[in-house]
Amino acid sequence: MTDVQQQPAPVMSQADIFPHHSHVTRDMRNQQVGHRSGVIWLTGLSGAGKSTIATQVELELFREGFLVSVLDGDTMRSGLNCDLDFTRQARMENLRRAGEVASLFAMMGYIVLATFISPHHEGRRFVRNIVRKNFHLVHVRASLEDCIQRDPKGLYQKALSGDIANFTGISQAYEEPQDAELKIDTTSHTLPLCTAQLKNFIKDNFLLT
Ligand code: ADX
Repeated sequence: MTDVQQQPAPVMSQADIFPHHSHVTRDMRNQQVGHRSGVIWLTGLSGAGKSTIATQVELELFREGFLVSVLDGDTMRSGLNCDLDFTRQARMENLRRAGEVASLFAMMGYIVLATFISPHHEGRRFVRNIVRKNFHLVHVRASLEDCIQRDPKGLYQKALSGDIANFTGISQAYEEPQDAELKIDTTSHTLPLCTAQLKNFIKDNFLLT
């Protein structure tokens, strides 16, 4: 990273900025589709199963008529966030941008399934604070041994042999969340069970009464 990229986004004066207010409100959008919008933030080690669970739940809810979409860390990092590495500071900026994008999608009526390792308490508090309305933290938990064994992208092998720096769980800590609204354990439960757990949670928290 260059020095410029290391800097957190400068906060410019908001004095001459006027956020747009649509005639179509979030509530109107929610009423039309029959469910609330908001953000499910899935945190967990690489290989814990965040994307696998989110992708399956996205498909099942979509088929049932929900307005739902996955917002994935690797995908964000291949476009909007391609200038960011994995230092603590860059991860904060990654989460700041992801939190803002998730928030916009929630305003547009979506249930956003955001899948980001988000390894630090600080970063997770930060996004919770950005999104605020109808934000739920979900910890997708798996033992580090399981993640190393699964290693779907071959990254643990690279991290263990020193080819990747700052790798979560190997050369950088993953701080276990204490404030998750839901914990899904993929070491002790099957994928269909984990998927059902998340789907039930969403129906409990997002359906209009
Ligand atoms: S976060 O920590 O900033 O939330 P994010 O979820 O966006 O991370 O990206 C994680 C993905 O980047 C992993 O799934 C993996 O594919 C890839 N990756 C590449 N290098 C690293 C690294 N050093 N640590 C963690 N993930 C990495």
